[in-house]
Amino acid sequence: MDPEKNIKNTQSIKGETQNTQNDKCQRKVNIITIDGPAGSGKSTVSKLLARELGLRYIDTGAMYRAITLVALENGIDLQDEKAILEAAKRKKLEVDLRANDENEYTQVKIDGRDVSLDIRSKEVGEAVSIVSRLSGIRRYLVELQREMAQGGNAILEGRDTGSVVCPDAILKIFLTASIDERVKRREKQNISKGQIMNREEIKKEIINRDRIDSTREDSPLVVPENGIVIDTTNMSIREVVEEIKDRYLERINAKD
Ligand code: DC
Repeated sequence: MDPEKNIKNTQSIKGETQNTQNDKCQRKVNIITIDGPAGSGKSTVSKLLARELGLRYIDTGAMYRAITLVALENGIDLQDEKAILEAAKRKKLEVDLRANDENEYTQVKIDGRDVSLDIRSKEVGEAVSIVSRLSGIRRYLVELQREMAQGGNAILEGRDTGSVVCPDAILKIFLTASIDERVKRREKQNISKGQIMNREEIKKEIINRDRIDSTREDSPLVVPENGIVIDTTNMSIREVVEEIKDRYLERINAKD
């Protein structure tokens, strides 16, 4: 392994953010944001695009999950924003910015321990909706995400990356799909990862997650201003990737 490369491609998230400047994403910076509800195909599409376009991949959901895991492992009340923040800032979080394989979860480490799978557990999946509602946690993570996005050449994936984190991205995509299609995709994904959950359970979880994400006061899931909505219900992954690539190349060419 080339250690130089490894360091460059892994964002180490320090306990403190030194720079509190807000406009880390300069105007029309070379960034694509991809937001949308659970099961809309965001992760797979973002990773493929990052690899094929040679961009870094910033999985913002993995960061909310990592902080949630810290809270759970330390027995902190999930509403206790101050205690969660303090605990998170004491930890060294590392998020891999390489989109290696679209079927693999983003590699995340806490104090050097690989928690890539732990942050995908059912417990974290339930608790993360509560933790990601806390404004202080959002401010902290948005600041880190802007630092990671500095310099551009990145794809940010999440719920508010186009509306809040990088509103000046060159291309802002909002992916969506019908509820039944999203349930089907999540079921397939679960099976491939050896997780058994029946369809009704998945549907309930997705509907609940949608409701919490879309109705929270701070940074709800919304289509960003000038965002492009792509309904992926009847599209293959490849079709979605190609459509976004076309729009990205259009924007890049128009910019030059
Ligand atoms: O995309 P995901 O399932 O890994 O996201 C996990 C949770 O984090 C999800 O419930 C919504 C929240 N989240 C958020 O509030 N803002 C983001 N930018 C990304 C994720």
